[in-house]
Amino acid sequence: MAENTTVAVLGTGIMGAAMARNLIGAGFEVRAWNRSPEKAKPLARDGATVVTDPAEAATSADFLLTMLSDADVIEEVVGDGVLPTLAEGAVWLQMSTVGKGGDERLARLASESNVAYVDAPVLGTKAPAEQGQLVVLASGPGEVRDKCEVVFRAVGSKTVWLGEAGEGSRLKLVVNNWIVGLLGVLAETISFARATGVDPRKFLETIEGGPLGLPYAQMKGAMMIDRDFPTSFSARLARKDAGLVLEAAEGEGLEMVVARAVAARFDEAIEAGRGEEDMAAVYEAARPKR
Ligand SMILES: NC(=O)c1ccc[n+]([C@@H]2O[C@H](COP(=O)([O-])OP(=O)(O)OC[C@H]3O[C@@H](n4cnc5c(N)ncnc54)[C@H](OP(=O)(O)O)[C@@H]3O)[C@@H](O)[C@H]2O)c1
Repeated sequence: MAENTTVAVLGTGIMGAAMARNLIGAGFEVRAWNRSPEKAKPLARDGATVVTDPAEAATSADFLLTMLSDADVIEEVVGDGVLPTLAEGAVWLQMSTVGKGGDERLARLASESNVAYVDAPVLGTKAPAEQGQLVVLASGPGEVRDKCEVVFRAVGSKTVWLGEAGEGSRLKLVVNNWIVGLLGVLAETISFARATGVDPRKFLETIEGGPLGLPYAQMKGAMMIDRDFPTSFSARLARKDAGLVLEAAEGEGLEMVVARAVAARFDEAIEAGRGEEDMAAVYEAARPKR
């Protein structure tokens, strides 16, 4: 039941704001906090209580939902006395992408405060978040799963329950390695087409509808061709995820040559000032240099 259930949403950026709106729509009482207050304030018109302090959001809340950029930020925000203020039996739904090491750190933080921790990163970007169509990769203690379902149903169209907390974050890294790698090779393919006198639109038309013509490639490829990158997922955060993949692989003694090369492309795009644009802006680093 969503009624009389309070969700403290920490982080109302691209994803968090959309998720908060869907929670309000589903009947939850939402308390929203964001470092830059101007991004949280509009949620008040939708029915959220917008607060200026993370602990104020969390006080007596039934769920804590974090949708912040990375584990360091979450540790800083949540580690500052937030967890002990939650209601008895509350659950922390950690839905940001934090990687393997980050997830382990945050799970420890939860356990120190005796708060149930559900690792639940999401697949899907700005539009699916707005439409409540995210896929939730949930992992955590069996005894709290049923009560989490109502929250996940409000923000997503599908919840994939895995095992112990941490499995969601590991699967998320695998998926994001696929996405980030795809973007890197797509950027280079469009650049290669242009450099060799092939119209890149002809490339997209040729693959469309067949097994090679991923809708994702069509969407991001069109952005690259137009060199117009309205942000669904920022290049800065895509680079963060590439780093999380490399870190996790290194921990297992695995050398990821492609991921490393794509990460370097993202670095170049970010250095060129494209970090806040969509991840498709990695194309700018792959363009011919002459
Ligand atoms: N966008 C996507 O397609 C997508 C999809 C799946 C998962 N994710 C993951 O979801 C999370 C949020 O992504 P997003 O796209 O919503 O990013 P975003 O729009 O950039 O939002 C990031 C959030 O983190 C906050 N933040 C950053 N640094 C901070 C700091 N030092 N102290 C306090 N708050 C800080 C931001 O606050 P300010 O507003 O003050 O900067 C904002 O609330 C990330 O982990 C991302 O990897 C994103």
